[in-house]
Amino acid sequence: MLPGLPSLLGLSVLWLSGVARQGASEQSIKCFPEMGPSAEWKVKNSLTPGGLQTLHVDSVASPETNSDAVLLNISWTLKQDGSIQMLKATKICVDGKGQFSSYSCVRCNYTEVFYNQTPPNGSKWQFHYIGFSIKPETSYFIRAHNIPPANMNEDTTAMSVKFISPDCQDPVMKYTKKCQEYGSLWTPNITACQKDKSVEVNFSTSSLGFKYLVLIENNNDVLGNSGILELNQSQASVVITVTAEEEKGALVQIIPYFSTCNNDCIRRRGTVSSCPEIRHPANLDKSQPRKHQMFLILPTLSVAVWVIAVGLYLLWRHEKVKKILHHAPTLLPPIKVLLVYHPQACFYHTVCNFAEYLQDHCRSDIILDQWQKTKIAELGLVLWLTTQKKEADRIVFLLSSRADTCDSSCHPSAGRHGESSQDLFALAFNLFCSDLRSQTSLDKYLVVSLGEAALAEDHSALSICPRYQLMKDANPFCRNLLAISPGDLAHASGPAHPQ
Ligand SMILES: *[C@@H]1O[C@H](CO)[C@@H](O)[C@H](O)[C@H]1NC(C)=O
Ligand SMILES: *[C@@H]1O[C@H](CO)[C@@H](O)[C@H](O)[C@H]1NC(C)=O
Ligand SMILES: *[C@@H]1O[C@H](CO)[C@@H](O)[C@H](O)[C@H]1NC(C)=O
Ligand SMILES: *[C@@H]1O[C@H](CO)[C@@H](O)[C@H](O)[C@H]1NC(C)=O
Repeated sequence: MLPGLPSLLGLSVLWLSGVARQGASEQSIKCFPEMGPSAEWKVKNSLTPGGLQTLHVDSVASPETNSDAVLLNISWTLKQDGSIQMLKATKICVDGKGQFSSYSCVRCNYTEVFYNQTPPNGSKWQFHYIGFSIKPETSYFIRAHNIPPANMNEDTTAMSVKFISPDCQDPVMKYTKKCQEYGSLWTPNITACQKDKSVEVNFSTSSLGFKYLVLIENNNDVLGNSGILELNQSQASVVITVTAEEEKGALVQIIPYFSTCNNDCIRRRGTVSSCPEIRHPANLDKSQPRKHQMFLILPTLSVAVWVIAVGLYLLWRHEKVKKILHHAPTLLPPIKVLLVYHPQACFYHTVCNFAEYLQDHCRSDIILDQWQKTKIAELGLVLWLTTQKKEADRIVFLLSSRADTCDSSCHPSAGRHGESSQDLFALAFNLFCSDLRSQTSLDKYLVVSLGEAALAEDHSALSICPRYQLMKDANPFCRNLLAISPGDLAHASGPAHPQ
């Protein structure tokens, strides 16, 4: 009997001190994970507390210094009524869509019984719990209810909110391991300036990888691109030829391809300014004698005259022009190719790689729905497709065999392209079908199949288009792609097919 006495005393002392603390506003919570229903669900509770007044969620950096986790800060206030005396705990559950099976709950016991409807300062009872590590750009559903819970036939007192975690550009989120792998800490320091039809872009590369694509765009139109660059220096400088003279609002976009994120890495943008005028001789030293300037200008002038003369000569000898262009294929502007891919094709594995191949080896500027999502959202798929059809020089239907069906080795987010590409392929086929009946418009279309992919019954209209199998027919395909009008095959060239 004796040993029981002190512990009983201890309990009552604790309880008493608890009451005293609440008087001095020391109510607090003690939270711990509780999966499955609380014990209070299993019994009928004659008196139950009211619900929560508010529920608010925010993201915070993990307080532990050596961890890069970002956590939820879940805060709530309690309704101000007499039933608060029944309140023992609040249970919070978080369901993370897009995160694998991440349903988890905590139960926060209130350390004291609530004797007052408000804390001593007269405001509302407010608590917060920091926990549940989160991922970037993910939707979470947070649901909280008080315990003991409402009985079966009573109104539920649960409250829920949706929270979308910030992306990798967020000042807190960018330090997470996942965001770092996506290049969140890379500071490219982009500078770009345009003079006439060329844009010079300088940027610092990242240690995460050496493959980059630089685009110059305006209102989502790509005015020029660098092709895939392989840069092993820390400072890169590229000159890109663009289709338009200086325009307001031109942007440079750098798309990195790091092995940690492939096509999904964080892309960076910068503005394009106009290049400062080069007036070295006049500006650097005004006292320089005029003669000296002439000395510099004359050779330049004579070179220019000589270049023009050669140019005219070449123009005159039209056949020769073709030959010269043939040896310097980069002088020709890229041709615009609209790529329509079968929904079965794995986007990251196949479509992107194919698009890159065309950009690198077939002098093509690829129009791909997934690269113009904003524009599609603005115009709608049909209008976007008809506009692109007009702008594109060639339209390529990319077929894929069943073997290419996305499997686990594909990028996990590849699946989300499935639906929109289904629409795209069917829509493009139907919209362009009428062209397939006239020989002149037919020249615009090419069909490429990967492996042994066969034409489905309902797409048999495509069988009249020239058809190529990759990578077996890569060279003839490239040649045909670049031959805008039949008989003009001499223009066709590219590193993949030297004469
Ligand atoms: C969490 O939210 C509560 C209530 O909004 C706030 O008082 C507290 O400072 C927040 N904690 C952190 C670490 O941001
Ligand atoms: C929380 O409260 C419940 C019932 O009131 C109790 O069974 C449980 O042990 C408490 N948990 C903690 C960690 O205080
Ligand atoms: C980027 O530019 C800033 C200021 O212009 C400079 O301090 C910084 O060192 C540069 N970063 C890199 C990686 O070059
Ligand atoms: C790029 O770097 C080169 C060499 O450092 C420099 O001459 C040029 O002005 C820079 N251009 C831009 C647009 O910053």
